[in-house]
Amino acid sequence: MSIKLIAGNWKMNTSLEEANQLIDEIIKNLEDGDLSAEKKVAIIPPFPFIDLVLNKIKTIPNFYVGAQDCSPFDNGAYTGDVSAKMLKSLGVEYCIIGHSERRLHHQETNLTLSEKVEQALNNDIRPIFCCGENLEIREANQHIEFILKQLYDGLFFLPKEKIVKTIIAYEPIWAIGTGKTATSQQAQEMHAAIRNEISKNYGAEIGTYFTILYGGSCNAKNAAELFACPDVDGGLIGGASLNAADFLKIIKSLPKK
Ligand code: PGA
Repeated sequence: MSIKLIAGNWKMNTSLEEANQLIDEIIKNLEDGDLSAEKKVAIIPPFPFIDLVLNKIKTIPNFYVGAQDCSPFDNGAYTGDVSAKMLKSLGVEYCIIGHSERRLHHQETNLTLSEKVEQALNNDIRPIFCCGENLEIREANQHIEFILKQLYDGLFFLPKEKIVKTIIAYEPIWAIGTGKTATSQQAQEMHAAIRNEISKNYGAEIGTYFTILYGGSCNAKNAAELFACPDVDGGLIGGASLNAADFLKIIKSLPKK
């Protein structure tokens, strides 16, 4: 059985004070059984607030902090970049790589993404590798082929011992921040295709244990239905992770499969 994960991607939101309040509110309302070794939660705040959130959650088992990106470079003269090594030194566990917003606004290529994946893994950080098609591709019924190509280009070059440390987030671009979520059938179809391809490349055991998240307008109302799909192992939550009550409801929607 795969490990379940709910990851809250705060994107470029919150001030220092808001970040403080939001994490305090989440922690205050967590209940026994919300987190376990099979059901983990990660907060993925903007870089400046990573240390703040980490210090608050570090004594809570199965609660982690992630970063929204990392540099494809090791260290040196790369103004503005944040290295995976720096993130690891803080205590970061996960790093989003290849989010569609970065592919779009920062022209990230598959080559850059594969370098970032390597940087994260070399520093013992687990990449949350994002893939997702736009509406045009979905309407042309080429979505599965498109997603698998993104995975072959950005991830499937990894050997077995590294692929097992990664997580995939399927985030259809037409569903991100639009309020228009994928139906559970659409999510399940894609997640099953992804799992099948992992099994084909790395063996059935790795396929079965692999964590595949859904992202794109997942909220307190639709989370339970999405998470009930056999191949959906949790969510990468954007907008709804900025509201503590909604985020907690989403955490509680994860069934103990
Ligand atoms: P959303 O974002 O939940 O606001 O649609 C998800 C994401 O982009 O990670």
